[in-house]
Amino acid sequence: MINRRLFATSTLTTAVGLALAMQAPAVQAQGTANPPQIVKDNMERMAKNKLEKCFGINAAAKNDCAEGAHSCAGQATQARDTKSFVLPGPNVSAANPIPARAGIGLRFQHHQAVLDTVPDVAWMEVHTENYMGGGTPLRYLDAIRRNTPISLHGVGLSLGSAEGIDPAHLERIQKVAERVEPGLMSEHIAWNVVDGTYLADLLPLPMTEEALEVVCRHVDQTQSYLKRRILVENPSTYIAFGNSIIPEWEFMAAVAARTGCGILCDVNNICVSAHNHGWDALAYIAALPPEAVGEIHLAGHSVKTLADGTLLRIDDHGSRVSDEVWSLYRQAIARFGAVPTLIEWDNEVPPLEVLLDEAFHADHLIGKSRKDSAHADAA
Ligand SMILES: [Fe+2]
Repeated sequence: MINRRLFATSTLTTAVGLALAMQAPAVQAQGTANPPQIVKDNMERMAKNKLEKCFGINAAAKNDCAEGAHSCAGQATQARDTKSFVLPGPNVSAANPIPARAGIGLRFQHHQAVLDTVPDVAWMEVHTENYMGGGTPLRYLDAIRRNTPISLHGVGLSLGSAEGIDPAHLERIQKVAERVEPGLMSEHIAWNVVDGTYLADLLPLPMTEEALEVVCRHVDQTQSYLKRRILVENPSTYIAFGNSIIPEWEFMAAVAARTGCGILCDVNNICVSAHNHGWDALAYIAALPPEAVGEIHLAGHSVKTLADGTLLRIDDHGSRVSDEVWSLYRQAIARFGAVPTLIEWDNEVPPLEVLLDEAFHADHLIGKSRKDSAHADAA
């Protein structure tokens, strides 16, 4: 089972692991003339069930045409996004939308406390893979989701794998989704599977046209199979590939534009990567298309001093959100508008109250941003 905690605790070894990773065939050209069987099957299913294209997915990735409401102004004849999108099938519920407020990552340590206290938080996000095994965790989630909308955040689909994504894993994701009826679903711009072996880290991709093609093909495949839009998250990285030619922010925007998926903008990841690579974090945020951003992640990170004196930011999700990330977040919501915002915490998980306090602060900033925006509109 893939656990995000493993990813977080292993980040210090990432630089070493990458020496191996770069030798691995992370991204290779694959033939595109014949779509994989899984895609053919879904195309046939769409045709059989008379599923249609929708041109009106709204910014929250909600399509409510079937409910008679049209928050997306659903009579549009052009895609709001750059590409039309498959209407969610009748078995996919949009009944539990994620509000544009702050939520918290639900971790096993807090299952009982959440069930007992029903905390005042707008939504929660779980790692999909942690609920694939059923049993007690899934029973907790079944109970918790009666009170709180849930988002599913996958860590094991490996959208950047050269060998293609695992149809069995995709099926497992779908099964969890059918059970949980998540308001949002997301994955990472990363790879972590090679020759059927799952690696305990979200490994970076070379930012090349070849990698972009592979990721887009896999996002298309995933959205087609799940019959819904997904969000893809920007990575935190520690070294760059010498053959990368596309700035990461352009890569993210291109994936969204070519596939119609949304972007999960992890502001902490931007901060970490910007420091590690000498990027301008604000320029990164400014380059993302606001209409595609469907969720924001916030988390803590640490700073390590390497033997040569270099400072390395580590995305360890083991502390409160830093002042610098809060500052970037204010800039992000000023640009993207109010979007669902998650507090992630995976190492040294604190009492539930600490997560709720972080979410409270994010909610405060969202409210302030809304007021600022209203004042600007009125002026
Ligand atoms: Fe994240």
